[in-house]
Amino acid sequence: TGTLASGEPFVTATFSAPTNIAVIKYWGKRDVKLNLPINSSVSVTLNQDDLRAMTSVMISPAFEKDRLWLNGEEEDVSKSKRIQTVLAGIRAIATDRTLADGTVVPAAELADPSKWRAHIVSANSFPTAAGLASSAAGYACLTRVLAEVYGAAEPTPNALTAIARQGSGSASRSLYGGFVRWNMGAAADGSDSFAEQVATADHWPDLEVIVCVVSADKKETGSTAGMTTSVETSELLAHRAAAVVEPRLSAIEAAYTARDFPTFGAITMRDSNQFHACCLDTFPPIFYMNDVSKRLIALVHRFNAKHGSIVAAYTFDAGPNAVIYTTKAHTAALLATVMAHFPRPAALASDAEYVSSAPALEAAKAAGVPAGLECPSGDEDVGAVRYIYKTTPGDGPRRLDDSASLVDSATGTPA
Ligand code: DP6
Repeated sequence: TGTLASGEPFVTATFSAPTNIAVIKYWGKRDVKLNLPINSSVSVTLNQDDLRAMTSVMISPAFEKDRLWLNGEEEDVSKSKRIQTVLAGIRAIATDRTLADGTVVPAAELADPSKWRAHIVSANSFPTAAGLASSAAGYACLTRVLAEVYGAAEPTPNALTAIARQGSGSASRSLYGGFVRWNMGAAADGSDSFAEQVATADHWPDLEVIVCVVSADKKETGSTAGMTTSVETSELLAHRAAAVVEPRLSAIEAAYTARDFPTFGAITMRDSNQFHACCLDTFPPIFYMNDVSKRLIALVHRFNAKHGSIVAAYTFDAGPNAVIYTTKAHTAALLATVMAHFPRPAALASDAEYVSSAPALEAAKAAGVPAGLECPSGDEDVGAVRYIYKTTPGDGPRRLDDSASLVDSATGTPA
């Protein structure tokens, strides 16, 4: 808490939040307004040291209306139903706040949008256009930071995830680190459709992640629109939700718990493939993967064949980027193999500009490409992969010091 230059009080907080990559995909809503899914899903939370959303919120009676700035641009809050839903969800569970001067603001006053209003400033460390799940990190971060400033008290365990879910379904899973399941729930009001942690981030220290950002030449079908058409037209999606997902969830949770990579990897790849098969089965069909995605798939299968077991596993969301899970023993050789087949774009001066992690790059150069996986000269696909992130599983949202705030504490506007 503090005081603006105008003398009016404020409450503020800043958080960062991670993205997550599902290994059993969420695809299809049974209720579009409440973001209720047709199946449960599970994901691995990625390390926010590498990819994160960061959001500062300041609330004050000095502000005229709720306002939002995203990556430097002001957005109209009144036009975003999702933001409004998250705001209303948190205000409904606000608690009394004690200000710096000892004054207590009752919850009812704090949560009254005609009395206290919110300025929200958010920034992503990864390009929104990259097709990485920035909405997951963004809505998880927004939910968490709003919960902090409003002193939100969860009426039931995991209730915050159900609020984040209404911003973006996958955001429900970014409120925890490690391995997270979003239970589809059965209630019509969505109260039992929340996420919970299955294993913490440090449960499987050997697990590592390589993200290949693939150039997309055309605008993809948005998740919400794509899901609607898939639910309406794909018989395969209906079969998936009814018969495939539940057994896969139990099997992959057991594999993750036992740190059994071959089983974890096999289910991950099959589930990604089935999700994209459902997209092809949608009428008219939706294509998220492109030729580069397919070449990456083939390369991972060759890498595994060479090792005689599954040591790397790809998964693709609603775009052409490949997320490849592997274990420490194989990261360097895998990265070297990907880089041999997909050399950096000509516009990048060195591999240091191509790969996010200098130690990972060094290790890849030292490891080299395993015999038999070299790229025949002339077959290199230069620039088809734009950028490579090397990361690991990570923890849930983190509170940052007010000194990192994106809101100026004198004016209450972006710093
Ligand atoms: C393919 O969570 O972005 O990444 O709920 O409409 O915001 P909305 O969709 P969103 O969809 C994510 C779909 C996916 C699979 C997944 O993350 O489970």
